Amino acid sequence: MPQEYSMTTLFDAATIAQRVKALGATITKDFQGESVLVVGVMKGSLIFLADLVREISLDLKLDFIGVSSYQGMHSSGEVRLTHDLSQSIEGLNVLLVEDIVDTGTTLDFLIENFKLRKPKKLSICALLSKPDCHSMKNNLDYVGFEISKEFVVGYGLDVDGRFRQLPSIMQVHTSA
Ligand code: IMP
Repeated sequence: MPQEYSMTTLFDAATIAQRVKALGATITKDFQGESVLVVGVMKGSLIFLADLVREISLDLKLDFIGVSSYQGMHSSGEVRLTHDLSQSIEGLNVLLVEDIVDTGTTLDFLIENFKLRKPKKLSICALLSKPDCHSMKNNLDYVGFEISKEFVVGYGLDVDGRFRQLPSIMQVHTSA
């Protein structure tokens, strides 16, 4: 029997769509005249990525990388690569797209890993960032929304694999 959660809406679908459109326009401007390989971090970025790339007007290709660090609502602190890229990124403009930055461990791990593969340029886009929770070594180039420490689900984000399909970003209330 799945555990039940109490939730309230943090960002509704219309607010997300408006922000994603603005991010797409900024990325289009920043990479004007260039080709870009957009890399989605699975699985959480999937829905954001699908909407974002449709707001980007550039010569663009897609790839995916899989990592795992969370169990339930807690980070294990240890990042594991569960699925690697299907191509070399050497000499390419790469835009890495992540769902949410909490401690920053996942992105710092991926950025260091990607730098070793010698891309021409590596830019980072995160839908959500919890700035109070991280002191990342690397900078985020594009952020959808900054939030506080709350745990969120929906629009691709999950708890134990659930709630990714919700169209809004929902804050989960814990009774602990
Ligand atoms: P970090 O390594 O602590 O920055 O955590 C990043 C990863 O943890 C994200 O890619 C998510 O998969 C997961 N995560 C962190 N915070 C949340 C949250 O509030 N909701 C759902 N997943 C989260």
